[in-house]
Amino acid sequence: MDDLREKYLTAIAGAGDEAALEELRLAAVGKKGEVSLKMRELGKMTPEERQVAGPKLNALKDEINSALSAKKVALEDAALEARLADEWLDVTLPARERPRGTIHPVSQVTEEVTAILADMGFAVAEGPQIEDDWHNFDALNIPSHHPARTEMDTFYMARAEGDDRAPNVLRTHTSPVQIRSMLDQGAPIRIICPGRVYRADYDQTHTPMFHQVEGLAIDRDISMANLKWVLEEFFSAFFGKPVKTRFRASHFPFTEPSAEVDIQCSWEGGAVKVGEGDDWLEVLGSGMVHPKVLEAGGIDPAEWQGFAFGIGIDRLAMLKYGIPDLRAFFDSDLRWLRHYGFSALQVPTLHGGL
Ligand code: PHE
Repeated sequence: MDDLREKYLTAIAGAGDEAALEELRLAAVGKKGEVSLKMRELGKMTPEERQVAGPKLNALKDEINSALSAKKVALEDAALEARLADEWLDVTLPARERPRGTIHPVSQVTEEVTAILADMGFAVAEGPQIEDDWHNFDALNIPSHHPARTEMDTFYMARAEGDDRAPNVLRTHTSPVQIRSMLDQGAPIRIICPGRVYRADYDQTHTPMFHQVEGLAIDRDISMANLKWVLEEFFSAFFGKPVKTRFRASHFPFTEPSAEVDIQCSWEGGAVKVGEGDDWLEVLGSGMVHPKVLEAGGIDPAEWQGFAFGIGIDRLAMLKYGIPDLRAFFDSDLRWLRHYGFSALQVPTLHGGL
């Protein structure tokens, strides 16, 4: 028995893995294992012999079993240690360089504009880019055959043959969202709507798809003075410095009175610079919401009044970041995107400075 103990305890101590351990278990205490066979021999012994050999054999079996399970735990621990050592990760190492995209100036400026106007209490609203002609035109006091419909170089959607309803359009401005928001929310209301708009137009400062942010504030006593304050406040927050603006009397069918706003800039040396020179870039249209537009939005013009504006987001991006040609915005030229793009980690916030 001492030989058996010696043999198996040594072998167990030296077992290299769980499979070897299992083999040893079978060889010692398995059904046909050496210790088990010895136990079977107990039957042939005299009662006296059995009294001596029985407990000893049992003790040996227990000893081998506990050596087996202790070794099993040790092997598992060692395997875990090895894995931990192997899979160890230095989280303090600098990250590997990966090709990364940049935030497009239009997205960046949209975020900036939204941050400023949201801080003034405007909530963000949305509307469809494919718009019906009622929302895009009629409700905004632009009846059919009104010259403004052709002035806007509208893209019309096709209708099925025989369908003689007025065609849908790619919205020519974000103003239809004024109507949708008024109908949804009623008055008082204070919303902005950033989004894509479409007009058939193409030169250094025009592309067939561009971006606007619409603003609408309706309450009982909102005036042109509030509009001017909001816009001036907006520009100095956006450019981070006082900027010369020019409010020009203008005309839109959906506002009365109306004003267009230009920003002072220069175009020298292949770059556009804001706040200097004697050129002006028109960046927005605005005015007091026309009573007919309030009515179309389900709001009583005898009780409510307010202002609306539509800012060209792309124009603002050109001015703020010195980008001279609007067409390049949408060329998807990687060199341009890398040059004018923003880091994804530079999220614009008011407190961080815009
Ligand atoms: N919708 C006008 C445009 O696209 C801008 C505008 C919006 C003017 C709101 C007045 C009020 O030119």
